[in-house]
Amino acid sequence: MDPILEQIYAMTADDCTASARHLMLGGGTRGGPVLVRGEGVRVYDPTGKSYIDCTSQSWAMYLGYANAEINRVVTEHMANLSHVHQGFDTLPRFYLARKLAQLAPGDLNRVSFTVGGGPAIEAAMKIAYKNTQPSRDFVCLYDSYHGTTLGSLGASWVSTRTHGKLHGGSRYLGLTRPFIRVPNPYCYRCPLGMQRGNCGLACARMLRMTLERGIAGNAAGVIVEPIQASGGQIILPSDYLREVRAICDEFSVPLIFDEIQTFGRIGRMFAAEYHGVTPDIIVLGKGFGAGLPLAGIIISDRLDGFQPDAEELHTFANSSVAQVAAAKQIALLEDGLLAHTAHMGEYIRAGVVELQHDFPEIGDIRAAGLHIGVEYVRDPETKAPLTAETKAIRDAALPLGVIFGLGGANANVLKIKPPLIITRAEADDVLSILREAMTQVLRTAAVR
Ligand SMILES: Cc1ncc(COP(=O)(O)O)c(C=O)c1O
Repeated sequence: MDPILEQIYAMTADDCTASARHLMLGGGTRGGPVLVRGEGVRVYDPTGKSYIDCTSQSWAMYLGYANAEINRVVTEHMANLSHVHQGFDTLPRFYLARKLAQLAPGDLNRVSFTVGGGPAIEAAMKIAYKNTQPSRDFVCLYDSYHGTTLGSLGASWVSTRTHGKLHGGSRYLGLTRPFIRVPNPYCYRCPLGMQRGNCGLACARMLRMTLERGIAGNAAGVIVEPIQASGGQIILPSDYLREVRAICDEFSVPLIFDEIQTFGRIGRMFAAEYHGVTPDIIVLGKGFGAGLPLAGIIISDRLDGFQPDAEELHTFANSSVAQVAAAKQIALLEDGLLAHTAHMGEYIRAGVVELQHDFPEIGDIRAAGLHIGVEYVRDPETKAPLTAETKAIRDAALPLGVIFGLGGANANVLKIKPPLIITRAEADDVLSILREAMTQVLRTAAVR
């Protein structure tokens, strides 16, 4: 082993504690294990204990840990090329851009790569802004999350009073830009107090009114996560998105789909396909790079795109290593992994429905492929959120060997978003540990 790896791997728990003061973390859930290695869907702590990772590390490790095929393709390619300045052409970049254009719906045919989700959102904003002059403001939805860069922060719930308190993102409001937020179609808890089915898509009407009367000049763009992730695993209804598409057309406003969490994970390549709605711009990130930092946008041929005159330039926007990993992963998705994702998502969803029979505290189950949220309530009638208990269920599952995620506007949504390679046996383990964690928290007086 390389001496530097020997030194790193030999660090003790005391070394970690002593080193922690040299680190600043601006976010992320703490309290999980120190991770020393991973294999398949499992990560391991220094004691050798393993956990099935239903967070896929920020939902990004689609192929799990130490994936032999990704490791091989990356190692083979790195013997040839790695970092390349954006101004130089490479074969992986041509290959991946062409592949994405082939896969993307409609006339979304031009790709720009970048380094992460926030910068990709900003790239989409630049394109939308450029095509709507004179314009200034963007519209986004309640409970949305589009990143924490200065350009994207104002569109994320972290800059609001969600959960009844101001979050860290609100400290930078003087540096970032305001977004105009409209109610989201969170039909389980409609922000407008209406019922799905006889609401007349009131939230879409609010978008229309906002574009007409609530915004100065032309809107620069409407940005949505077709399935809101951080905000609570909320699957936007397809008829709502069709209406949003029509409204954007009516006002000539580019519609941006933030597919940073949906690409591949929902059992379809794009949420645009899942909903049957084609946006003007799709944003990719997270799992797109098969665990390597890679993000990008795909834009409609009708839009004026970037020109090579320094309007969008990043040192690491042309990582040929991440591009070959992404290309390999797309090949695997096409070769059965998408179908497996859809199948396993349905398997886990059905398993949670089973649990719901014994635990009426499971108020709502929202699943699209392996993009799954379980919303906990005190009782199904009042829908009062079970916030502390949801966190307790997440915490109880950890020593039992599963890492779940937590989110939602009331922090009462458990997220089950494992690597897409999860097997039935592993899914059974996740479900039985979830049952055990819920029993401990919801049925044991001492814990309640
Ligand atoms: C839907 C969505 N958009 C944008 C982002 C920001 O991506 P990044 O963290 O890579 O900047 C995230 C990250 O969680 C996300 O979930």
